[in-house]
Amino acid sequence: MLYRCHFRLPLALGFLGGLLFAVMWPQAAPAQQALSFKEDVFPILQIRCVDCHQPGGKGYQESGLDLQTYEGLMKGTKHGAIVVAGSAFTSNLVAVIDRRTDRKIWMPHGKKKLSKCERQSIRFWINQGARNN
Ligand code: HEC
Repeated sequence: MLYRCHFRLPLALGFLGGLLFAVMWPQAAPAQQALSFKEDVFPILQIRCVDCHQPGGKGYQESGLDLQTYEGLMKGTKHGAIVVAGSAFTSNLVAVIDRRTDRKIWMPHGKKKLSKCERQSIRFWINQGARNN
């Protein structure tokens, strides 16, 4: 009897641990999921970028980048595209939010850096082809 009790507890804990892992896994590994422009990327741009990056805003005035739409994002600045579909690392968009550029063009300009999770969503979405999905 005593033997069976001791045997069951680790088994039950193992089972609960496995269940917890299965439930948490999607959050722990966003790389496994398909990222959506509408659901994952656009809300970040809307909250953190669009104020300045629309006609009348400072960012739009100086760079020509309009972040109100997918088309605007893909068109880029007056100097050209900022998203290289399939290649987050070489995309200027990622360089400015990851702060790998001159300080003057760190984005969002003069404001708090995007969270690691927000930056990761943008990176994965670009690596998955930067589709209007
Ligand atoms: C407070 C205003 C402001 C906000 C918010 C802002 N920007 Fe900007 N952005 C600017 C200004 C001003 C420039 C022009 C900077 C320059 O050329 O010196 C600019 C330029 C850019 C450029 C072009 C950089 C280059 O290569 O010259 C990109 C890309 C950019 N912004 C992306 C973003 C993104 C993405 C966000 C949101 C995460 C964002 N911006 C939020 C003001 C802003």
